[in-house]
Amino acid sequence: MTRPILEIQTYAARRKHLQQAMRHGIAIIPTAPEVARNADTHYDYRHDSHFYYPTGFTEPESVLLLIAGDEPQSILFCREKSAEREVWDGFRYGPDAAAEHFGFDAAYPIELLDEKLVELMGNQPVLFYPIGADSTWDARIIKAREAVKAKARTGIQAPNAIRDVRELLNEMRLFKDEHEVGIMRAAAKISCEAHRRAMRFTRPGQYEYEVEAELLHEFCRHGARHPAYTSIVAGGANACTLHYVGNNARLNDGDLLLIDAGGELGGYASDITRTFPINGRFSAAQKDVYEIVLAAQAAAIAAARPVNSWNAPHEAALRVLAQGFIDLKLCKGSVESVLESESYKQFYMHRTGHWLGMDVHDVGEYKVDGNWRSLQSGMVLTVEPGCYIRPSDSVPRDLWNIGIRIEDDVLITSNGNEVLTQAAPKTVNEIEEVMCHE
Ligand code: GLY
Ligand code: MN
Ligand code: MN
Repeated sequence: MTRPILEIQTYAARRKHLQQAMRHGIAIIPTAPEVARNADTHYDYRHDSHFYYPTGFTEPESVLLLIAGDEPQSILFCREKSAEREVWDGFRYGPDAAAEHFGFDAAYPIELLDEKLVELMGNQPVLFYPIGADSTWDARIIKAREAVKAKARTGIQAPNAIRDVRELLNEMRLFKDEHEVGIMRAAAKISCEAHRRAMRFTRPGQYEYEVEAELLHEFCRHGARHPAYTSIVAGGANACTLHYVGNNARLNDGDLLLIDAGGELGGYASDITRTFPINGRFSAAQKDVYEIVLAAQAAAIAAARPVNSWNAPHEAALRVLAQGFIDLKLCKGSVESVLESESYKQFYMHRTGHWLGMDVHDVGEYKVDGNWRSLQSGMVLTVEPGCYIRPSDSVPRDLWNIGIRIEDDVLITSNGNEVLTQAAPKTVNEIEEVMCHE
């Protein structure tokens, strides 16, 4: 329930960094609302990442307010202590203990937010908040600003500029500090174990959800109580549906199984895809396609290094895939013509990765001033080429319904990269060995 002091200092340092980036003005950062699932039950609560990043605070109904400038302040609004509610729902800090424990300059009950907003917004030149993220909050913030404006005759001025606080937070979140990298390594380790467990468990005749249950079991038993996103457990042709989450089909002897699943630990995601034969042995055709995707991934990972552009891994993967698609008679022409005409898109229609962090598709710009940004130490991205072959008269029949993706999480280091998810079996030999149920 309580957090180690070192961790608390990390969050406090982020607030200071954000205040410096703001230079002056007031920032308002609400956490996520609780969401009803049905009747009086709720979806498992997940804090908002932009709120958690500078607070480390996970209770719902909380708002961070930061004032930058000569007299910086950090103020938390949260639920009050309640002997009765705590009997039902469990511990809550309450403002006094939250301020002391998390190092805020002040904390108030959430019920005082509207009143305090009007008071604290006065004479602040700039208002920073996540504009457009939630229309209820938009209305609430604008109403508070109007209330400040109404005090103009008393000499109090309302902020005359509104900026999206996410512009500043996104750039901070893109670069992971040692504390974050440590958590992401741990999330990756658990998720690799889950993939290994799924490989060992899988047999023809099972249902996709049985394998999903093994993944969830392994995440949860190591403290990653929730997956970072809905697990994709896609047997055979289902693997050719990129966002397949039905997970309710029978697994057939001779088909491949694509699993895209990662646990969330301490608020950080992992995101791994492995594809393996349901009966433990790749067929010749499956192996041909698999080796091409694997080679494309190796080329992309090699390109994921400072100061290559964000797009370099994608371009490296595309070159290998284009040659492979020609070899498999999926595409015609030269590598250059396949890339130029984009005929590869019939079999590879997504990009090769995304930023990874607190959110599975994490924040951070991909372009700066119109150009792909360069990769730098501390960034974490996924590298996930694939190949999805739907039945078609123009496609050799033995390749129909083969869907393969191989995805790892990669930390950019000062002189290259570290693959955080290395421990999940990936080569044909590694996979067949694990599936041999040694
Ligand atoms: N699991 C989502 C993705 O790979 O982007
Ligand atoms: Mn991904
Ligand atoms: Mn994924």
